[in-house]
Amino acid sequence: MKKIAFFDTKPYDKIWFDQIKADYDFELVYFEEKLTSNTASMVQGYDGAIAFVNDTIDKNAIETLAKNGVGILAMRCAGYNNIDFKAAFQKLHVVRVPAYSPYAVAEHAMAMLLCLNRKLHRAFNRTREYNFSLNGLTGFDLHGKTAGVIGTGKIGRVFIDICRGFGMNVLAFDPYPAKDSGIEYVEQEELFARADVISLHCPLTKETAHIINKKTLALMKDGVVLINTSRGALIDSDELLEAIKSGKVGGAALDVYEEESDLFYEDFSNTNIQDDVLARLISMHNVLITSHQAFLTNEALQNIAETTLKNLEEYFAGKLLQNEICYQCDKLGKCEKLPNGRCF
Ligand SMILES: NC(=O)c1ccc[n+]([C@@H]2O[C@H](COP(=O)([O-])OP(=O)(O)OC[C@H]3O[C@@H](n4cnc5c(N)ncnc54)[C@H](O)[C@@H]3O)[C@@H](O)[C@H]2O)c1
Repeated sequence: MKKIAFFDTKPYDKIWFDQIKADYDFELVYFEEKLTSNTASMVQGYDGAIAFVNDTIDKNAIETLAKNGVGILAMRCAGYNNIDFKAAFQKLHVVRVPAYSPYAVAEHAMAMLLCLNRKLHRAFNRTREYNFSLNGLTGFDLHGKTAGVIGTGKIGRVFIDICRGFGMNVLAFDPYPAKDSGIEYVEQEELFARADVISLHCPLTKETAHIINKKTLALMKDGVVLINTSRGALIDSDELLEAIKSGKVGGAALDVYEEESDLFYEDFSNTNIQDDVLARLISMHNVLITSHQAFLTNEALQNIAETTLKNLEEYFAGKLLQNEICYQCDKLGKCEKLPNGRCF
């Protein structure tokens, strides 16, 4: 029976993996530790590893996995910006869950927008203290406003449908526009200038890192609302903080944060966190932060468990790896797969 090391385990992961693991010929061993170069040696005696978004899968971690005979890394997520793919090539096959529920993430993006705009986070706290004052709780109608969507893949398109349901106008930017979608594509600068609400749904790449920065913030409407459920480093957090302080940005809904990896998913309620930018953002009435939870629905967790174990099964059965990704695939489909359907 193949032994699989499951890193960064949380109770909600175990619920769904435990439900279906009997259908597979694997022994899953759950570790609470994140996969990093310091913990990679825990895979001694294992055949595969499962990791998540905030693990640090750098060259050293990859070499340690490979040295210990692990040939497959199954990411139980869609994004893969935390992997050194060049180091993994020829050493470690990497598979992922390309889609588990675009609805989960897109619905969370809209939930954050509604909460922030209609000040539900503040109203909830007020009424718990029998404070029924409405002062400071004024929002705006979404109907008739313009949503600017950056990245019109699976999640971006569901978000667009939701916005349309609210009677919003939608503009989008994507270097690879979806054909026959009826989406109005514009250049990034035009989107920044015209949108009342901007939602990020593109991956984190060299091109998209810090696409929200001082320069692009200056192009936006005064009072613009930003939503980021994609990856933290799409936004320069220091420059966003300045734009919120100056009033340029009217609200920020952030499910992801540039420096989240040492903080999100853990309880620091008995400590003073060291990240002053995050602490300042959290202190602001017009900032709403959730800790990378947009994916967290029953449907998404079930799909993640099923696809992750199927990916591992394909690997051990010597089959084509449908969800393999390497640095060449990442360059938008330039990977020349071997006759056995694998990247190397
Ligand atoms: N918060 C969460 O829990 C969570 C969960 C899943 C995914 N995500 C994030 O959401 C992102 C989008 O997921 P998806 O499933 O829709 O991915 P996808 O691959 O279906 O779509 C991504 C889209 O972004 C576009 N894109 C690429 N470069 C771009 C650029 N420079 N500018 C604008 N668009 C660009 C692509 O052409 C594609 O259409 C993921 O990369 C991941 O980072 C977050």
